[in-house]
Amino acid sequence: MNIIEIIAKKRDKQELKKEEIEYFIKEYTKNNITDYQASALIMAIYLNGMTDEEITNLTIAMAQSGEMLNLSMLGKNVVDKHSTGGVGDKITLILMPIIAAIGIPVAKMSGRGLGYTGGTIDKLEAIPGYNTNIDIKQFIENVKNIGISLIGQTMNLAPADKKIYALRDTIACTESIPLIASSIMSKKIAAGANKIVLDVTCGSGAFMKSEEEARKLSNRMKQIGKLAGKETICIITNMNEPVGYAIGNNLEVIEAIEALNGKMPEDIKQIVLELGSYMVKLAGMGENIEENKKKILENIENKKAYQKLIDLVKTQGGDIRYIKETERFKKAQFIFKVISQKEGYVKKLNAQKIGEISGDLGAGRKTKEDKIDEAVGIILNKKTSNKVQVGEVLAYVHANDEQKGRQAVEQIKEIYEIVDQKVEEEKIILGII
Ligand code: URA
Repeated sequence: MNIIEIIAKKRDKQELKKEEIEYFIKEYTKNNITDYQASALIMAIYLNGMTDEEITNLTIAMAQSGEMLNLSMLGKNVVDKHSTGGVGDKITLILMPIIAAIGIPVAKMSGRGLGYTGGTIDKLEAIPGYNTNIDIKQFIENVKNIGISLIGQTMNLAPADKKIYALRDTIACTESIPLIASSIMSKKIAAGANKIVLDVTCGSGAFMKSEEEARKLSNRMKQIGKLAGKETICIITNMNEPVGYAIGNNLEVIEAIEALNGKMPEDIKQIVLELGSYMVKLAGMGENIEENKKKILENIENKKAYQKLIDLVKTQGGDIRYIKETERFKKAQFIFKVISQKEGYVKKLNAQKIGEISGDLGAGRKTKEDKIDEAVGIILNKKTSNKVQVGEVLAYVHANDEQKGRQAVEQIKEIYEIVDQKVEEEKIILGII
């Protein structure tokens, strides 16, 4: 087989055979295919798409490119969760302790940020001492002992995805249904759970900008899950504006801790209840979605989920004083106010742009090697549909560089679209597939 012929086939809109896809994945993982050849093929896939069969073959080849974890020792039904990415997305930090508090084992490997979207592992590492890099034996032990462990990808799981994911980020090929579906499902298949709940984000801050695209991606991933014997539910959630009010690592961790202490913004609450109630259902712990939602609320109100977060942080070496006294988290040197010059209602607040500004302040990475500044970011004070007066604070910019902070203030002013007419609140849960 020859990579040049494979590239030419996809360039000419032909369907790739299973063996050709397997050859590409195997040889690229072993570095026998160059990044520029892989880039050409990825771009051809981006432009010309893939059939359902090609996507399934790509997913399975990527899942089998490294080790495959077996979690069956944790129970009959082990449920995993994944998001297609967003801005201010701290749902895993809030939801997983709740799920563990209900008595469902949580053994989850998360990723780092991609482009303007944040990653759960970067957020967990904002908690001083928290070790995201424990070995698999310890990972399983922790789940057996306290019911939960959240780590980075310490095993060699789907290494082909790791390489292709990093490549896509540098060649403008992130927003593609075949590539996203195979990336997510290969990791989920290799990560060992047999039930999967996916948060398919949709809107300005997501890879899928329209509901139609999000539905297509959901159907594709559900179908791959079925073929792999893993029951999969997709919840399409609104990502037109950031999730919650905080964007940036320390700021998001503080918002997550407060949420588990009962101070949960409405959009976060809706996402947590919807994803969580389906996780409970797939785990075989409750057929009735409304009853499951009540169970989730109960575990927040009685602080069992908050206690689970403390157990998790303690077991992974983190300093629990930060969870109990959030003012210990390092603050940025400068906090600037973004003041409204207009009166009216917030019509739009482009999540991608907010994510990019937060990244420029230092909360994200431009290259894999970049170091994150955990203290910086943005706290929104007004969100879509809120009424605003002249002189009111729209948002706070947390910066460690005065110049960058002032620039962020000006950029955020431009992003807030304020109109005279009343604006309806947007729906948060857009569909369940
Ligand atoms: N999340 C992933 O794991 N992969 C993608 O391609 C996009 C979001």
